[in-house]
Amino acid sequence: MRTIEVFDTTLRDGEQSPGINLSREEKLEIARQLGRLGVDVIEAGFAAASPGDFESVAEIAREVRGLTVCSLARSVQSDIDRAYEALRDAEDPRIHVFLATSDIHLQHKLRLTREQVLEQIDAAVRYAVKYMSNVEFSAEDAGRTDIDFLCQVAEVAIRAGAKVFNVPDTVGYLTPQEYAGKIRALRERVPGIAKIKLSSHCHDDLGMAVSNTLAGIEAGITQVEVTINGIGERAGNASLEEVVMALATRPDFYQAKTNIVLNQIYRTSRLVSKLTGFVVPPNKAIVGANAFAHESGIHQDGVLKEKLTYEIMKPETIGVAESKLVLGKHSGRHAFREKLTEMGYQLSDEEVNELFKRFKDLCDKKKTVTDDDIAALVDDSHTVE
Ligand code: KIV
Ligand code: ZN
Repeated sequence: MRTIEVFDTTLRDGEQSPGINLSREEKLEIARQLGRLGVDVIEAGFAAASPGDFESVAEIAREVRGLTVCSLARSVQSDIDRAYEALRDAEDPRIHVFLATSDIHLQHKLRLTREQVLEQIDAAVRYAVKYMSNVEFSAEDAGRTDIDFLCQVAEVAIRAGAKVFNVPDTVGYLTPQEYAGKIRALRERVPGIAKIKLSSHCHDDLGMAVSNTLAGIEAGITQVEVTINGIGERAGNASLEEVVMALATRPDFYQAKTNIVLNQIYRTSRLVSKLTGFVVPPNKAIVGANAFAHESGIHQDGVLKEKLTYEIMKPETIGVAESKLVLGKHSGRHAFREKLTEMGYQLSDEEVNELFKRFKDLCDKKKTVTDDDIAALVDDSHTVE
């Protein structure tokens, strides 16, 4: 069983979500919780981006122990200097240098030739390595980079001293098969790549960030870059909880695990949602309010007989107390009776049958029936009689 390292970029790429702006205190609170969650690397920010970001990276580097703290830097000396200064007090610092490598970015954004890009990568990685050995290089827009050139980029970055080579699908363009193909080609063609960490960083523009990350793992990725609740630039990044729980639920398939403390997942998701103001959709996998809720009668009956019928994970594994049976118009008599018993009512079959009819009438008027509604139904039935 391989162990996949989890690189959390909630505080850097996640904070790039339009509408999110975390204070220093909030970032530190999230970083501490990420420590409890057991991530291997925290990307604490982009030190050169603003004085506030610099301070946040420095504070997290000082305070959070037992993991790697990392800062992003463009492939320019001034950014790398700032990243190093911010990370000075970290127990295990990493500088994360990036430069775009796709022809689209080279022509329209960087206005550089491929040769110039290779030179800049070589110079930037060598410069960062003077400060520390733990240097990561990201080929921005690797997803749309010609594979021959991407192999050259990886070769140059590794020769210059990068210990991690990251393959971002920056604009969420690739299919899982294509992403896995790129990872396999890199592993087959780049000398020395087996000696360093190979990392995925997938965006969710077509809703495939998690699938691409998992396909990357199948193809030999050893580090995944992810965010809590999948927040991030535009449609977001691969979500930590989905990738981690896919591995935890299907070890038979992936033959891989992480160091994540699974029962901290829900708590971390709640904290990030509260501090960012980004509400988690109810149907979100793993951490959505409905992820462990059953409404239809057939499902409720199954779950009451044996949870395995409709639950592939236990809620307590991720720190949720228990699954819920939500009473609504699709619910059946079995769940209704169970709810009455749970609420302390001891009623005959006849009384339950009568109440069940009234409950169904109420369901046509109301989407979700609460415990208070049920108590009122029972009270009313006694008054009527
Ligand atoms: O999406 C991306 O390419 C990035 C890099 C800076 C790693 O976030
Ligand atoms: Zn990104």
